[in-house]
Amino acid sequence: MKIVMIGAGYVGLVSGVCFSDFGHQVICVEKDQNKLAKLRAGKVPIFEPGLEMLMERNTREGRLRFSDDLKSSIVDADAIFIAVGTPARRGDGFADLTFVYDTAREIGESLTTDTVIVTKSTVPVGTNREIKRIITACKPKAAFEVVSNPEFLREGSAIEDFMRPDRVVVGVESEAAEAVMRNVYRPLNLRETPLVVTDLETAETIKYAANAFLATKITFINEIADLCEKTGGDVQQVAKGIGLDSRIGGKFLHAGPGYGGSCFPKDTLALVQTGQRYGAPQRIVETVVAVNDARKSDMTRKIIDACGGNVSGKRIAVLGVTFKPNTDDMRDAPSLVIIPELISAGASITACDPEGGAEARKLLAGADWVDDAYSAADGADALVIITEWNAFRGLDLSKVAELLNSPVFVDLRNIYPAEEVVAAGLTLTNVGKGHVKD
Ligand code: UGA
Repeated sequence: MKIVMIGAGYVGLVSGVCFSDFGHQVICVEKDQNKLAKLRAGKVPIFEPGLEMLMERNTREGRLRFSDDLKSSIVDADAIFIAVGTPARRGDGFADLTFVYDTAREIGESLTTDTVIVTKSTVPVGTNREIKRIITACKPKAAFEVVSNPEFLREGSAIEDFMRPDRVVVGVESEAAEAVMRNVYRPLNLRETPLVVTDLETAETIKYAANAFLATKITFINEIADLCEKTGGDVQQVAKGIGLDSRIGGKFLHAGPGYGGSCFPKDTLALVQTGQRYGAPQRIVETVVAVNDARKSDMTRKIIDACGGNVSGKRIAVLGVTFKPNTDDMRDAPSLVIIPELISAGASITACDPEGGAEARKLLAGADWVDDAYSAADGADALVIITEWNAFRGLDLSKVAELLNSPVFVDLRNIYPAEEVVAAGLTLTNVGKGHVKD
């Protein structure tokens, strides 16, 4: 099949590369000349484990190309995917669909063949119908179908998620469009991956409902963590105890500093806005958004308390600033709230992150940067783990204790067992573990 992927951002690039690995002929269309030059030179502009190797192989074997010319690329395409960005609009939280609609218009103006136009970008309910209207307005006689095909990739494990998904969702309006999508995903038949075929609006809703549900699960366990801290109890054991109930499931029950990233914050907000617009308020998700926002500042208070109630003049070592491990993505990372708040409270910050890089340095300009955890700990008054990178999971805690000025160890991801931390002579503050004294 010939597939065109418009937009080589995170979703577009991963999907395009993986489709080429399925054996399809893929052209990724990217307008940003900087990004295009990098891609043509075989460089991946984002950090995603496994992506560069897959991109190199499929380019070399002639199945993957990059172009800035939408018009010539879409000639004879069996499927044209729209994977351009939908950032949250400033001010009101609605998804900004400018790029999606501009792309639809450009496709409409250039369309010459009978094809299927598939939306991969995360778009609110009703967007695919609007895309159809825009293209029809451009080319009233064009034979095309619109399909909604939301993605469920996690940054850091996107290749695995694409190649071994729990399910593939396609919203279609005809059997012909469904047949094209079955062909696109045919290699997944071997693994008997369920293909959930729905109408357009249902597929659009599935994407938002999935992300909002996962965000709710995380927020729920975070509030249970708060309760455990007050009443006595261990949130990790509570998560295990409820997660083994197959109706609940054990995933996404890790208590921590609140969810971040490019998806949950944006999509929960967009769902809230859609609910309000249609008179079907999403009250649970509204609360999730508010609780998660407040949680980041709660973590600042937790750190200050661990430092004896005052961080003025103290130096705090921060390990991990990206919104989660295995990504260089800083969008809505809890560190973007916690670090500036600590600085406002008078602390100085020495941070380190395996991939946070230039973007992190720009966004957290007030922090000093070092290359490894021990350099960060050296002479600091406290050490705080915000993001659970593997590099921070096996620290020599005795060495950390020696390097620190005072033995304050704050683990916001619960990666260290209390016994180990205490045995090293450190005082541990973590999440959701209360101690009741007789
Ligand atoms: C999320 C979804 O997991 C994907 O299925 C979806 O495709 C994607 O959004 C999207 O809409 O594009 P992602 O944002 O990459 O993926 O990251 P997650 O692994 O879901 O983590 C999101 C946030 O939740 C992170 O800040 C993470 O630290 C936090 N989290 C996750 C927890 O605090 N606890 C958990 O148990 C799980």
